[in-house]
Amino acid sequence: MRILFFGDVYGKAGRQALLSTLPGLKEQFRPDFIIANGENLADGKGVTEKTLHPLLNHGVDAITGGNHLWDRAESLDYIAHKALIVKPMNYPIQTPGNPFLILAKADIELGIICLCGQIYMPPCDNAFGVLERFLNSLDAPIPIILDFHAESTSEKRAMGWFADGKLAAVLGTHTHIQTADEEILPSGTAYITDVGMTGSHDSVIGVRKQIIVDKMLSAIPNRYESSDLGLQVNAVVVDIDIFGKATKISRIKQNVELTQEEL
Ligand SMILES: [Fe+2]
Ligand SMILES: [Fe+2]
Repeated sequence: MRILFFGDVYGKAGRQALLSTLPGLKEQFRPDFIIANGENLADGKGVTEKTLHPLLNHGVDAITGGNHLWDRAESLDYIAHKALIVKPMNYPIQTPGNPFLILAKADIELGIICLCGQIYMPPCDNAFGVLERFLNSLDAPIPIILDFHAESTSEKRAMGWFADGKLAAVLGTHTHIQTADEEILPSGTAYITDVGMTGSHDSVIGVRKQIIVDKMLSAIPNRYESSDLGLQVNAVVVDIDIFGKATKISRIKQNVELTQEEL
């Protein structure tokens, strides 16, 4: 089976970049499942029904979360009831969202989980222990991909080794910066430290660059505004064999030109 996974889709610019490239990517790669990290769908802050629906209508099967998933108070009930929004499993049980999703099409199944890192991140449970307990609780093996939403490259790399042979893929998200280290680990797990961001790259991780430069210079908090310059789709394509082992991971970093009306 083949999976197309988009890194953090940021705001309207990211959503439009994804939607405009999706037909071509589908044609080129013919993925069985399409997944996107959606923690920044709504202007960088969380997810709403209005921002998620167009993606689902155009073939995205599920979205994964992250530390920003619950930024919109008005969406908490929606997140709680929308099973294809996968929340980080190592957040409290009281936090809305589905911690484990199984997608099924024809005769193939794919499990999706998400975990957040602990280094330079908001407090959450230890991702390694939570993953171990989860895997021990499974009745039958199923290919599973993990969105490991974390800041630290070392924590992500360690997760790759920890999960090698246990998961089909460990795909890093959260930094919004794509890393060029995609590989198949020795026991058959596809790995990349960070898939990157789908959105404006002529920015500082999605925010208008001057706002962040000014903040860095003056240390005065500013109101963030999303950028819509220098659009890119950052994604990976992962092939998984019938034994649940990854055989190939390919990185996508594609510039997107949109008119002002499309933004
Ligand atoms: Fe993000
Ligand atoms: Fe994040």
